[in-house]
Amino acid sequence: MVFQCSKVLHSSSLLVKSMLPIRIWRCDIPYSTKNVHHTPVMLREVLHYLNLQPGQVVLDMTFGGGGHTKAILSTVPEVTVLALDRDPTAVSLAEDLAKEHPGRVKPLLGRFSELQSLLSHTKIRERSVDAVLLDAGCSSMQMDQAQRGFALSKDGPLDMRMDGDRYPDMPRAADVVNTLDQQALTSILSAYGEERRAWKIASAIVEARRSTPIVTTQQLASVVAGAFPAAAMYARKDRLNRPSHVATKTFQALRIFVNDELNELHAGLCTAQTCLRPGGRLVVITFHSLEDRLVKRFIHGQDLSNLDEFHFDQKQKKAKFSVRPKEKSEHWSPVKRKVVTPEKQEMLENPRGRSAKLRAVLRL
Ligand SMILES: C[S@@+](CC[C@H](N)C(=O)[O-])C[C@H]1O[C@@H](n2cnc3c(N)ncnc32)[C@H](O)[C@@H]1O
Repeated sequence: MVFQCSKVLHSSSLLVKSMLPIRIWRCDIPYSTKNVHHTPVMLREVLHYLNLQPGQVVLDMTFGGGGHTKAILSTVPEVTVLALDRDPTAVSLAEDLAKEHPGRVKPLLGRFSELQSLLSHTKIRERSVDAVLLDAGCSSMQMDQAQRGFALSKDGPLDMRMDGDRYPDMPRAADVVNTLDQQALTSILSAYGEERRAWKIASAIVEARRSTPIVTTQQLASVVAGAFPAAAMYARKDRLNRPSHVATKTFQALRIFVNDELNELHAGLCTAQTCLRPGGRLVVITFHSLEDRLVKRFIHGQDLSNLDEFHFDQKQKKAKFSVRPKEKSEHWSPVKRKVVTPEKQEMLENPRGRSAKLRAVLRL
């Protein structure tokens, strides 16, 4: 199923991607997991809402640094974890963990959209899994390694592919910014970054690349900064009221586009629906409003398959994304009606998780 997230990128991001040439910018430094650590977000709440019992099977769809999985293994006796990630570096950590816990961890390398096929090669049957955890977005391992090209604060090649080198022809962020025209870049920035200055930033990118291709994160950050008047440079704030870099939304938009994250999220939710047993629980953590709106609509049973209904554009989002209060899903019942957010203390200790939203539902 193809899920479309923007009226502008009409034939899904894949069509725009097919217009991109094979990338020219390479990073040959092998990824490493040394000295990188991911603090699991809302760990206490995740364990509480998953409500796992001894001997059950849980699917961790976003293994990452394994923080949630490790806590599950150490708190629930004889539980088995199916540990999925699209990032080969994360899956190699899952393989190490599988050696420490023989028979209790099954590493799976792939995307949400590939999970159904991966599961068909295991003994896991439809409607048999006891709980699913989906902790969306990037891990600290990805963000903190300059050579992965996700982070604004670190200079590295403009890459951003969560899959690493699994698909060598997959476009990197550098391919996107150096190839697409101003209109397409504007669409990406406004659809996936909800960036009000999308047109201005796209224009600055097109202008800058005329003289030199934009190939590093710092180059892009300074090109984006150039599209803002001096007074606006320090005006944006994050949820903790700290100054936020003006290129933050641009980086988010490119990352979502490169990794086709919203289509993937939808595919992941559909697979969770297929593999959970009646009474099984789904816990989803999201980090920005595009993801949370999608999850909210999905668990309210709204049909997300009509591609033309989806407009992630600012003016339309209220009308398109408001969830009609009486709407009830035939597949899900809430474990907790309201969205759960991190405690103040956790936000201070782990600012990266400050925008997290957790939703917990029961499969009917
Ligand atoms: C926020 S991190 C998860 C962190 C993890 N819960 C922990 O405690 O260490 C998200 C992980 O999900 C993976 N991921 C994101 N989208 C994915 C997709 N479509 N398919 C499979 N894995 C995905 C990323 O590669 C990343 O490692």
